[in-house]
Amino acid sequence: MTDLNSGNLDKEIAKDGSAIVRDGMKKGDIAVVTGCARGFGRAISLRLAREGARLAVWDLLGDEGEETARMCRDAGTDAQFFHADMGSPADITAAAKATVERLGAPFVVVNNAGINLRCAAIDHPAEMWTKTLNVNLVGAFLCAQAFAREMIRNKRGGVIINFASGRAIEGAANSIAYAASKAGIIAMTKTEATEWAKHKIRVNAIIPGVSETRQPLEAGGTLEELRERGKSIPLGRVGHPDDIAGMVAFLVSADAAYITGQGLAINGGRIMLP
Ligand SMILES: NC(=O)c1ccc[n+]([C@@H]2O[C@H](COP(=O)([O-])OP(=O)(O)OC[C@H]3O[C@@H](n4cnc5c(N)ncnc54)[C@H](O)[C@@H]3O)[C@@H](O)[C@H]2O)c1
Repeated sequence: MTDLNSGNLDKEIAKDGSAIVRDGMKKGDIAVVTGCARGFGRAISLRLAREGARLAVWDLLGDEGEETARMCRDAGTDAQFFHADMGSPADITAAAKATVERLGAPFVVVNNAGINLRCAAIDHPAEMWTKTLNVNLVGAFLCAQAFAREMIRNKRGGVIINFASGRAIEGAANSIAYAASKAGIIAMTKTEATEWAKHKIRVNAIIPGVSETRQPLEAGGTLEELRERGKSIPLGRVGHPDDIAGMVAFLVSADAAYITGQGLAINGGRIMLP
């Protein structure tokens, strides 16, 4: 039986703690960010560039995507833009292959691209479901799968971050397919984390609250009105892309080495998860 008062226990625990290997993103590691052209994707790309990652930034939008890559290079790192429609399995396969050929296998994959096609549930057509699920869920899966294979092959492991939404938790009027796709992201994240943990791949989901990007404004209203809504949130404001980028920087770091399969809500306290 362990003698809890001997002092040896604390020494033993301290020794084991220092022996644990905690891998995190290092300068020069490759990071893939989807949906890089604006909003969270651009802020995440720039933050990872400042952390020293070499970036493969993906999007549908060529001009804006190239601009993100340029901004990352201005921050002092290597960055290349890759065109990929996340609703197209062929695009994802081609962009993943090109990324590995031109930059190498990534340590970080951020599945940020997403769409919210708004329509009342009573009128929501099947095509809108298919498009939403293809881009938000199947695309994120295929991207994670393609790079998990590389991470397993090179035996280093890595970090995958999927993007869910508070809508996955509380539902969303006029966004039934979106809410369901984001709930799917949470289940997918837990499954990937379970299957790939033995390969040193950590997989987590970020669950953003309403934030200052185009996506919430597509429903109508101005940025000022969006900010006004933020006053009812416990921390008194809506989110900013830099809040999300900060969480990504933490999750890819060695400090997050024991976190996998989680949904991390960044929402100023609007929805409080256990
Ligand atoms: N902003 C919010 O309030 C909020 C809240 C919860 C979750 N989210 C999620 O965060 C992620 C980023 O959102 P955002 O607010 O920055 O959105 P945004 O609309 O500002 O940017 C989305 C990016 O994804 C790209 N994209 C869209 N469809 C694509 C496709 N088929 N293929 C490739 N790229 C595509 C866009 O071109 C754009 O660059 C999304 O997954 C979104 O659902 C956002």
